[in-house]
Amino acid sequence: MKIILANSYNELSRKAADIIEELVSSNGNAVLGLATGSTPVGTYRELIKRYLEHSLDFSGVTTFNLDEYIGLRASNHDSYNYFMNYNLFDHININKDNTHVPDGMTNDPRTYGRLYDRMIENAGGIDLQILGIGSNGHVAFNEPAEELNLGTDLVKLSKKTIEDNSRFFESKENVPTEAISMGIGSIMKARRILLLASGEGKAEAIGQVLNSGKVTTWLPASLLLLHPDVTLICDQEAFSLVDRRIMAGAIV
Ligand code: F6R
Repeated sequence: MKIILANSYNELSRKAADIIEELVSSNGNAVLGLATGSTPVGTYRELIKRYLEHSLDFSGVTTFNLDEYIGLRASNHDSYNYFMNYNLFDHININKDNTHVPDGMTNDPRTYGRLYDRMIENAGGIDLQILGIGSNGHVAFNEPAEELNLGTDLVKLSKKTIEDNSRFFESKENVPTEAISMGIGSIMKARRILLLASGEGKAEAIGQVLNSGKVTTWLPASLLLLHPDVTLICDQEAFSLVDRRIMAGAIV
């Protein structure tokens, strides 16, 4: 894992956008894996700015999002479908037909998930997957557990994730308890992964992933250590519990 340290959230967002811009400029038909949540919002804002300022071209780009809450329609303001339109797709020249966010209204998540994974494969696979990390070390909505899904499938959200994400909803009771999420296998197939972590709320998870030198399904983000091309962009707060003596060589 390569590590890029940023001095602020804005710097983190700019550095993440640099990597995305580099890919999209060199491959107009790039396939991006996208995340929702607070962390990538600044990156998306930065991409919109680059589209407006120097016409960064998304017309041939295809996107696949990681996850969606079960029971929320795309038109629901709390859905991740809505989030993506609001925070990115509505403001750039992407062809909406080429953007994909899992359908939270599916009544057969297993079959739907297989179809979603096949769609990713048919698009040529993900060139660059953007990931956030949960305070409990989840990636996408793959929560710490004895076993993790390989492919896109139904997941039950942990108490911690429901608590963390209640800030986006009217109350904790309104947070859906289930989601459809890309599995760890779907994520690990991406050719390159960009993991973003900001703020002290992520320090424990990042510290555990980088310090222990172990992989475990109880800390899903640790499985990323097995991927050959992961870049972590991290601000100082999220990096604060990492043992710098161990990780010094990884910082670029
Ligand atoms: C979002 C997702 C989640 C978030 C994670 C961090 O699509 O899959 O894994 O990346 O929960 O969320 P924030 O960025 O809100 O702290």
